[in-house]
Amino acid sequence: MRAAFYDEQGAAREVLGVSDLPDPQPGAGEVRVRVVASGINPSDIKTRTGFGGKAKPFARIVPHQDGAGVIDAVGPGVPDTRIGERVWIYMAQWGRAFGTAAEFVVVPSAQAVRLADNVSFEIGASLGVPAMTAHRCLFADGDLRGKRVLVQGGAGAVGNAAILLAKWAGAWVAATVSRDEQAEVARAAGADLVLNRHEEDVSHAIRSATGGHGVDRIVDVDIAANINVAVACLARDGVVSVYSTETPEAKLIIPFFPALLGGFSFRFVYVYTMPEAAMRQATQEISACAASGAYVPRIAKTYALDAVVDAHEFQESGKAVGKVLVRLQNA
Ligand SMILES: NC(=O)c1ccc[n+]([C@@H]2O[C@H](COP(=O)([O-])OP(=O)(O)OC[C@H]3O[C@@H](n4cnc5c(N)ncnc54)[C@H](OP(=O)(O)O)[C@@H]3O)[C@@H](O)[C@H]2O)c1
Repeated sequence: MRAAFYDEQGAAREVLGVSDLPDPQPGAGEVRVRVVASGINPSDIKTRTGFGGKAKPFARIVPHQDGAGVIDAVGPGVPDTRIGERVWIYMAQWGRAFGTAAEFVVVPSAQAVRLADNVSFEIGASLGVPAMTAHRCLFADGDLRGKRVLVQGGAGAVGNAAILLAKWAGAWVAATVSRDEQAEVARAAGADLVLNRHEEDVSHAIRSATGGHGVDRIVDVDIAANINVAVACLARDGVVSVYSTETPEAKLIIPFFPALLGGFSFRFVYVYTMPEAAMRQATQEISACAASGAYVPRIAKTYALDAVVDAHEFQESGKAVGKVLVRLQNA
């Protein structure tokens, strides 16, 4: 099979290449997927560059956790009826060397989730890490119908997923962005209120839009930077779900009394170690949301496999608004 891979950590242009590798074979409980589209996430870049001192976990790595395609072979214990099934894939390269930047990938059967016929492979390859993370941030503390949510960074991949899933679940959603192009993306996802975090007083705007109530849930991309906004616009007993900060050394300083008096909770979300039951619930609800037609994320650009270096460079440039994908084959 054709695959992208690297044997050393470093800059994409120096370490990432495309070549022929042996076709992988599914073992017990596994399926092999003929990949149509592969989704890139910041964590794929972080693994390649050794962000935060992270050592390379395998000698040779085929990158990318997310993807979509068609099951073409199954291992012992997986019913043959899965062959031919359209699927979306999550965490393909978690604890494994070979991810989705290849014509074929082998994953545990549960990590290849049925993709409804009306959902494109591009959308399927955009689900994985962003939708699973957003789902955990939004729903770990209960249903959202009639609740109010603030998404910090609503044009980011996870932020955009959070808007889409929260709207699908019946919440009122505010989102912050940092430029007009991002505002369009947040609005297209269904945000009821879009705020430019560099130009507007976010907590004041949230308080006035909610009649002084504040938001019940915050999904935050950089809580170390946004803690004062969080504390100022959370409703009583509100929850801040946190999934990222700008640097690995960041420290979170919480203003004690406002947090105490508000009864606030802080939830830290790491998608890769979500409880099994939460993963199952997330895959079911994300699939249902996508099948309903409500999950339409912005796709920034799709590259051919041979241009995977350009795709990685675009992902890490900070200029991509939306998902960066690699197309493996036409289906
Ligand atoms: N914990 C987990 O399991 C998990 C899962 C997925 C991703 N992550 C991490 O989460 C981060 C974002 O991932 P992603 O795929 O969504 O990346 P992305 O598509 O690049 O989106 C990040 C967004 O956050 C915005 N942003 C940056 N600083 C902000 C701030 N202080 N307040 C509000 N918005 C801000 C950015 O816009 P501007 O910079 O233009 O403002 C951008 O739109 C990455 O570091 C990733 O590794 C963690």
